[in-house]
Amino acid sequence: MADATQPDGGDDAKSGRRDFLNYLAVATGAVGAGAFLWPVIDSMNPSADVLALASIDVDLSPVETGQAITVMWRGKPVFIRHRTEEEVEAARSVEVAALPDPQPDEERVQQAPWLVMVGVCTHLGCIPLGQKPSDPKGEFGGWFCPCHGSHYDTSGRIRKGPAPSNLPVPGYEFTSETAITIG
Ligand code: FES
Repeated sequence: MADATQPDGGDDAKSGRRDFLNYLAVATGAVGAGAFLWPVIDSMNPSADVLALASIDVDLSPVETGQAITVMWRGKPVFIRHRTEEEVEAARSVEVAALPDPQPDEERVQQAPWLVMVGVCTHLGCIPLGQKPSDPKGEFGGWFCPCHGSHYDTSGRIRKGPAPSNLPVPGYEFTSETAITIG
């Protein structure tokens, strides 16, 4: 009997140790995972300076007709162009339905002279040229992305080249006649 029960008792004891060891391993694993995950999760929380840039105020008063400025917002360039009457007219005289990404100019601006949009090419993310007076502005007088030859018009709409869509317009509002808040 003693021989018959001893192995069982021994198995129970071994099984108990295994359970304990498994428990320890699980507990250690959980602590390890927790210790690893916390810095990752913590690092995903935006820091105060990033939160501060969630929206930015831009004074438009120094930007004269025909000029453009670039501001950084959430790590991306935002193009702001104070369009001339000719540029507005060019943007509004096209047949919208024939555009690759049909969108009337009126839907892309809040005030006709001011075009505000994210300056990142919708093809592969290059920064199009057209902000500086000396920059090429493409075949439609707006912006030109030399990476693969995308041409944007004076409303920032894609007109020619591989970019699939217009330059996006961020959320913004006029806080006075010559100031906007982006974001
Ligand atoms: Fe602009 Fe390719 S990234 S055309």
